[in-house]
This record gives sequence, C-alpha cells and structure tokens, in this order.
Amino acid sequence: MRVLVVTGAGVSAESGIPTFRGRDGYWRSLDPAKLATPEAFARDHELVWQWYLERRERIRAAQPNAAHYAIAKLAGHADEFLLVTQNVDNLHARAGMPNEKMVQIHGDIFATRCSRCHFSRLDYEHDHGAEQEFVLTRCPKCNALMRPGVVWFGEQLVWGEVQRVETYLDRGVCDLVIVVGTTATFGYIIDWALRSSCGSELIEVNPEETPLSRLATRLVRESAAIALPRIVDELTNRTAL
Ligand code: OAD
Repeated sequence: MRVLVVTGAGVSAESGIPTFRGRDGYWRSLDPAKLATPEAFARDHELVWQWYLERRERIRAAQPNAAHYAIAKLAGHADEFLLVTQNVDNLHARAGMPNEKMVQIHGDIFATRCSRCHFSRLDYEHDHGAEQEFVLTRCPKCNALMRPGVVWFGEQLVWGEVQRVETYLDRGVCDLVIVVGTTATFGYIIDWALRSSCGSELIEVNPEETPLSRLATRLVRESAAIALPRIVDELTNRTAL
C-alpha cells in the first residue's frame, strides 16, 4: 500500500505551536504572514530573527502529540510512504518519522543559512545565548547576513525537495492520501494531494473547511490529535498495509 500524508501547522497546534493564520499566530501584534517574508527581513532582520528565536524556544520546549505519533506509526506499516510537511518544526522527526520518509517542503527552523552563499548550520544543539549571537553575526565565509533556513512567502521551494516529492508521485498513484491541519492555500499542496490520490481515498482532517474539502472523499472535522490515532488504528486493522 502506497500512502502520502500532507501536514500543515494544525498538526502541531495541540503541541502548543501557534498556527500561521489562527488568532494566536500573531506575535507582538505582528502578522506571521508578513514577518515570514524577504521584505520583512530586509527591513528589520533583528526583529524577524527575534520571532524565529522565540519560535525555536517554543518548539524545543514542546512535545510531539498523538497525531505526530499516529503518522509515524502509519509510516511504519505502509509498503511505501511519504510525508510532505509544511511545518518547519521538528515534531514529526521527534515522534519517530525517519528523514527518508519525510520532506520538509518549507525548510527547517533550526537551520541557519547565509543569505548569499551556501554556508549553513543546524542550531538545534546550541544554547540560546550563543545561538542569538551567531544568527545576528554575519556569515563567516562571505560576511552577508545569516537568515533562517526556511522558505518565505514569495520564495522558490528548494528544487531538491520538490524533486523528492515528484519522484515519489511519479512512481505511481497512492492508495491513500491524508491531508491534515493545513489551509491548503498553496497550489502545489492541492496539486500533489490530487495527483497522488487520483480517484483513491483522500481524507481531510481539519476542523474547518478548506479549498481541498470539496475534493476529499472523506472529511474528518475533528482535531488532528483526536482523529488521527483512530484513523490510523482503523487503517492498520482494516488491512495488512
Ligand atoms: P495555517 O495556519 O494556514 O492553517 C492551519 C490549519 O490547521 C487551518 O486550516 C486550521 O483549521 C487547522 N487546524 C487548527 N488546529 C487544528 C487541529 N488541532 N487539528 C487539525 N487541524 C487544525 O497553516 P498551514 O496551512 O500549514 O509557509 O500554512 C501553510 C504555510 O503558510 C506555512 O507552512 C507557512 C505559512 O505561511 C511559509 O512560511 C512559506
């Protein structure tokens, strides 16, 4: 059985990570959709970094929830499995999702990279003071500003990561596609979900309606941490995946 799971910010909401478009997503009364942009960084990179450093702290202190664990369980049962997550947190990985079965299509919040050259490093292990100093220091190779290793609004996706998704889709239609906790505002998210399902089961887990809702074969209007463990148990009991 081939499975594709697509996740968005809603899957981490019950771990205490604010979604982008929810009311709690605002930071110091600033809209995340406006902070996560190259323009905001060019205007005030220290402010944008402050937001990301606080999000990093919050993610470090958070724990994966039942939805992250259920998705990792499903990955272990399926013959072929890919998770495409728009989340830059590391909660899927911490719930046991292997890197080779996951594409973080919007990057990794713990990556810090140069805004000009290819220099980058992972900051997960660093303490807050050293991290703050490093991200606000210029690139040790070319002296440009360091920036978060995430994809901002209006930026291109990383080609290699897009290729990993395309390669998986090219290998054949999925038997099951689950889309969880995303407003599905990006065309490529809808496109990947539809191309991979192509008439098979497409389940949407989201308390609210989205552009994908009318295309799904099953709508689950519950929170991810409530619905996913049950759905995954049903699936793993229904069939030897
Ligand atoms: P959004 O914040 O746009 O949407 C969160 C979605 O999760 C909404 O549809 C909610 O209804 C749903 N939701 C909230 N709580 C939930 C729960 N407990 N269980 C299930 N669903 C829940 O987040 P995304 O769709 O992930 O991109 O946003 C996509 C991208 O836009 C992000 O990756 C980021 C953002 O700007 C970039 O930074 C490029």
